[in-house]
Amino acid sequence: MQSKERDTFPTYLQTVHKGCQLLLYCSIPTPVINNNTWKGSPSLLATQTRSQLSGMGRLQKILIPFLGLVLAFWFYSARETFKPEMLKGKRVIVTGASTGIGEEMAYHLARMGSHILITARTESKLQKVVERCRELGAASAQYISGTMEDMAFAEHVVKEAQTSLGGLDMLILNHVGTSYFGYFDGDVGHIRKLLEINFLSYVAMTVSALPMLKESEGSIVVVSSMAGKVGFPFTVPYSATKFALDGFFSSLRQEFHIQNINVSITLCILGFIDTERALHAAADVLLVPAAPRAECALEILKGGALRYRELYYRYGSTRLPLLLRDCAAELLESMVRSRYRLDRIGPGQRRQSPADGAAGSPHR
Ligand SMILES: NC(=O)c1ccc[n+]([C@@H]2O[C@H](COP(=O)([O-])OP(=O)(O)OC[C@H]3O[C@@H](n4cnc5c(N)ncnc54)[C@H](OP(=O)(O)O)[C@@H]3O)[C@@H](O)[C@H]2O)c1
Repeated sequence: MQSKERDTFPTYLQTVHKGCQLLLYCSIPTPVINNNTWKGSPSLLATQTRSQLSGMGRLQKILIPFLGLVLAFWFYSARETFKPEMLKGKRVIVTGASTGIGEEMAYHLARMGSHILITARTESKLQKVVERCRELGAASAQYISGTMEDMAFAEHVVKEAQTSLGGLDMLILNHVGTSYFGYFDGDVGHIRKLLEINFLSYVAMTVSALPMLKESEGSIVVVSSMAGKVGFPFTVPYSATKFALDGFFSSLRQEFHIQNINVSITLCILGFIDTERALHAAADVLLVPAAPRAECALEILKGGALRYRELYYRYGSTRLPLLLRDCAAELLESMVRSRYRLDRIGPGQRRQSPADGAAGSPHR
């Protein structure tokens, strides 16, 4: 898709140039000469007309390139519209698809007729999601259960796509390990473990999937968070892993451009979404409403299919505040802090997840 845009661009510019000339020609006012009312000499009329036209010529020289640039910018930034057929028959891996946003992505993909391979730890939940995907019209649906703490498992999932699907068009990295919601407790071991699940397994799967994605000119979709773009309190380990994703995948995207590798990378910056665990962890502490997970899942898929560089959901509560990051960082940070009911989070206080019980606590 990228190369296609490049090929058509010069032709497009020529058309733009001709269009601008035509536009300008029509807009140049013709000097109105009425023989009955003209009192000056014919040479004065000629001089006036010449100077008027040379002014127009100068204007034309400036205006045409300017309009050309504006239109070229518009052309490059104009968004292609999404059509569900774009994902029909595509071979897609979705990680962390037993619940939450990943589960919703699997259902959307099923409705669009994709081949789906999902993964998470809980086999019973994955089985149900796969059954539902088949009912909804997936071209095929299967699962592999295991933990992303184990890099060999991460690579195994990708190999399974090679074996059973014969290739891969889209790799959606969405799973997230459990962490706590509260003040940072100084546990370095927990950060190491979370980095393995939330970051290193993403890297391992990308490395394994790259040969297949290069062949299909496919896409990598990385699900991240506002907490991966600006510091958020009470999710220090989680936030660190999400920042790592931005560093790795944004740098990799640069190398893909340099090497003309036509594999897109879409980094998804999400705000607060109404998944069960996120609501349980933070609904009574956060002063912002949670956005619907099904809509969020669809926006992620659209962003991946359209090969966006970054996807913001919801735009108003993620992209717009982030505009302050470089010019008014302290203001942005204080806005972030003002979104919490701080009186409800005491030092040393942690929130337990219903799903993980004593094994862990929610990640947000
Ligand atoms: N919800 C939000 O407010 C929000 C906000 C910003 C960003 N996000 C991002 O959106 C993505 C999805 O979040 P979500 O709210 O849908 O999460 P979720 O409902 O908690 O689902 C997490 C998924 O990851 C799987 N998982 C957890 N630990 C795993 C492990 N060790 N190995 C393999 N799979 C594991 C879980 O299944 P098992 O437990 O069965 O393994 C589950 O399928 C995450 O990347 C998250 O950071 C969410």
